[in-house]
Amino acid sequence: MSSLPIGIFDSGIGGLTVQRAIAKLLPHENTIYLGDTAHVPYGTKSRETVTRYSLDIADYLSQAGIKMLVVACNTASAYSIVKLRQLLSIPVIGVIEPGAQAAVEATKAGRIGVIGTEGTVRSGAYFDAIKKRDDKISVFLRACPLFVPLAEEGMLGNRIAALTALHYLKYFRDEPVDTLVLGCTHYPLLKEVIRDAMPEGTILIDSAEATAHEVQNQLISGGLLQTHITDKPKHSYYVTDSPERFMSVGESFLGEPFSDVKLVDLDG
Ligand code: DGL
Repeated sequence: MSSLPIGIFDSGIGGLTVQRAIAKLLPHENTIYLGDTAHVPYGTKSRETVTRYSLDIADYLSQAGIKMLVVACNTASAYSIVKLRQLLSIPVIGVIEPGAQAAVEATKAGRIGVIGTEGTVRSGAYFDAIKKRDDKISVFLRACPLFVPLAEEGMLGNRIAALTALHYLKYFRDEPVDTLVLGCTHYPLLKEVIRDAMPEGTILIDSAEATAHEVQNQLISGGLLQTHITDKPKHSYYVTDSPERFMSVGESFLGEPFSDVKLVDLDG
């Protein structure tokens, strides 16, 4: 069991931020990543639809053989994690609880902003996760739907990206925060323009690292850590549409070539 890969999924390339953090922290672990590029964006879709996509992916990855499932998507974590945990017999890790925990630990002013997809914001999952930890903290949520297509297009640092960030984040001039959660795994790709649009000194929380630590903890406590120590772990990538586009945007983000991205049909 411990030599099986960790399954990771997102609607597209955003979850690579989580996959990369896991591969860095746990360099002997194999991973299998699925980007549901045929259905991106998830953030504008209903709870029912996102849950259906998530269950199809979990089914596919389970059949491929995984020891743990990481939902590297805030929208899917917000909408479907309870259902996934009910149905799967392996550990299921989401990105919202680790991100909320990191934000609560970081804030000094007790004012946390969360940016995410419409679905994540509407679900109230971050609000609940932060308030559960400290109900004196004020939470300010803002949906930034255009960030996902910008990231998927590879438009990460140009003028359009910068203006979009200014447009959405001016909200935090009226509601100042000292900590801002990047509550969508696509957003760390736009970290520079987001940082530039926020007041200097704002702490940006990228839940990727916190999630990787949670993965490590659960692998240890479940006795699932890879025992076969290798310098060359296997990282496989699957998408449900346009592997070439995923490869080119992913490469520019990761700064290294993808050896292989395979197209899969989840309905087939
Ligand atoms: N990266 C995902 C998230 O964290 C989904 C973005 C989208 O597909 O709208 O919410």
